[in-house]
Amino acid sequence: MPATVIVGAQWGDEGKGKIVDLLAQHSDLVCRYQGGPNAGHTIVVGDETYKIRAIPTGIIRGKPCVIGNGCVVDPEVLIGELDEFERRGHSVDQVYLSGNAHLIMPWHVAIDQASERRLGNLAIGTTRRGIGPCYADKASRIGIRVQDILDAKILRQKIEVALAEKNLWLERVYESEPFDLETVAAQYETYAQRLRPFVTDTSLYVDTALREGKDVLFEGAQATLLDLDHGTYPFVTSSNPVAANAATGTGIGPNRIDRVIGVTKAYVTRVGEGPFPTEIDGDNQQRVRELGGEYGTVTGRERRCGWLDLVALRYAVRLNGIEQLALTKLDVLSHFAELPVCTRYRLRDGSETEHFPAHQSDFHAARPVYETLPGWEEALDDCVTVADLPAAARHYVEFVEHELDVEVTLIGTGADRERVLTRA
Ligand code: GDP
Ligand code: IMO
Ligand code: MG
Repeated sequence: MPATVIVGAQWGDEGKGKIVDLLAQHSDLVCRYQGGPNAGHTIVVGDETYKIRAIPTGIIRGKPCVIGNGCVVDPEVLIGELDEFERRGHSVDQVYLSGNAHLIMPWHVAIDQASERRLGNLAIGTTRRGIGPCYADKASRIGIRVQDILDAKILRQKIEVALAEKNLWLERVYESEPFDLETVAAQYETYAQRLRPFVTDTSLYVDTALREGKDVLFEGAQATLLDLDHGTYPFVTSSNPVAANAATGTGIGPNRIDRVIGVTKAYVTRVGEGPFPTEIDGDNQQRVRELGGEYGTVTGRERRCGWLDLVALRYAVRLNGIEQLALTKLDVLSHFAELPVCTRYRLRDGSETEHFPAHQSDFHAARPVYETLPGWEEALDDCVTVADLPAAARHYVEFVEHELDVEVTLIGTGADRERVLTRA
C-alpha cells in the first residue's frame, strides 16, 4: 500500500511511534503532518531507547523523513534532536522540513505557560510547549514560518514586528517578562544557520514519491480525541490529528491516501485535564499506571488510566476511516482477573448509546456501561504468534473486532521493537 496513515485512536500515547517504527522497515518515506514537540514517541530497540518529539520515527530505520507544513517546529528542540541522532550514529541528511510549517517562538511558550496559570482550575493541562499560541498565530495570519529563516533580514524584521505586539501582551495581560529583540533575533539566526539546509518543498517531494510508487507512512501525533475539531474540546490540542489531515498537513491530494491504521492501547490513558468516562476508580488505576509505565514522555506527568472504551474507539474508527487497528500493550492487562470493557454510555436521561455524544454536556455526564471479560493472568512474553496467546487474550481481541467491525492486525505484547504479533 503506497500511502498509509498511522493515527492515534484515543487521547495519545497509544504507541504510534512503535507501530511506525515497525512499518517503516518496508516503507520509503515517513512524514509527520501535524503537531510539534508536544508529541513524545518512545521506541525501544534492544538496549537503546529513543524519545522523539519532532522528527518522524522513520529516522531510526534510516528512512527519509518529512516534517510537513501542518507541523509547528520549535527550532531548539528540532536541532537538539538532529544533534542527538547524529551523536548516536544516525544520518540526518534525509530530513526534509516544510517551509510552510510554523515556528514556535519563545513568546508562544511563555504565553502557553502564562495562560495555563491564569486559567487556574480551568486549565487544559497543556504540555506548555507553545503549541496553542503558535497555531493561534498561524490562524491569525501573523505567524513566522520556517521559510522565513531563509533570509536573515526578513527573519529579523518578522521577529521585530511580532515582538512589538507580543511584549505588550506579555507585560500588560499576562504580567510576564518581555523578550529582548536583539537576544531573540541573534538566537534565531543561529538556529536558522543550522536549519536552512533542511528546508524543502515537501509537498512536491511527497507527491513525487507517491507518483513513483514509493511506500509512504504518515505518522500521526496526539490523537483523535485531542483533535481540535472532533476531540473533547476545549481539552484538546490545537491541530487536527485525524487521518484526513495527513493530506492537508503534507500537501497531497486526499485521494492519494490508501489505508488508515488506528493505534489503540488495550486500555486507555489520558494526560492533562478533561472528561474521561472509563477512568479507573481506586487502586487499579495506579496498578495499570505502574504496569504500563504510564508517565508522560515529554512532561513526566502521571497519565490517567482507564478501561478500554469502545464507544470512544468506535467514534475514532468513524472519524478516521480506520479499517485496521494496532492494539498495543495487551501485556499490561495480564495481571487482572477480570477486564471491564465499556461498550455503551448511559446518558443523563437514562438512555444508552453506543455512539459518542455530539454535545459536550452529554459527554461530560456520560457514564460507562461495562461488559466484563475474563482476564488471562499469564505473561505474554513467550507468545510469538497470535496462536500462542492465551484463549482469554484472543477473546479480548476478537471482542474488539466484533464490536467495532474492524480487523486488529497488530498486537503489542511488550515495549521492545520485536514485541508485536501480526495477524493477516
Ligand atoms: P506514542 O506517543 O503514541 O508514540 O506513544 P508513547 O511512546 O508516548 O507511549 C507508549 C509507551 O508504551 C512507550 O513507552 C512504548 O515504549 C510503550 N509500548 C508501546 N507498545 C507497547 C506494548 O505493546 N507493550 C508495552 N508494555 N509497552 C508498549
Ligand atoms: P503523542 O504524540 C498525549 C495533550 C496535553 C493536553 C492537551 C493539549 O505523544 O501521543 P498541547 O500542549 O498540545 O496544547 O496540550 O493535549 N497532549 C498529549 N497527550 N500524547 C500527546 O502526544 C499529546 N500532545 C498533547 O496533555 O491535555
Ligand atoms: Mg507519546
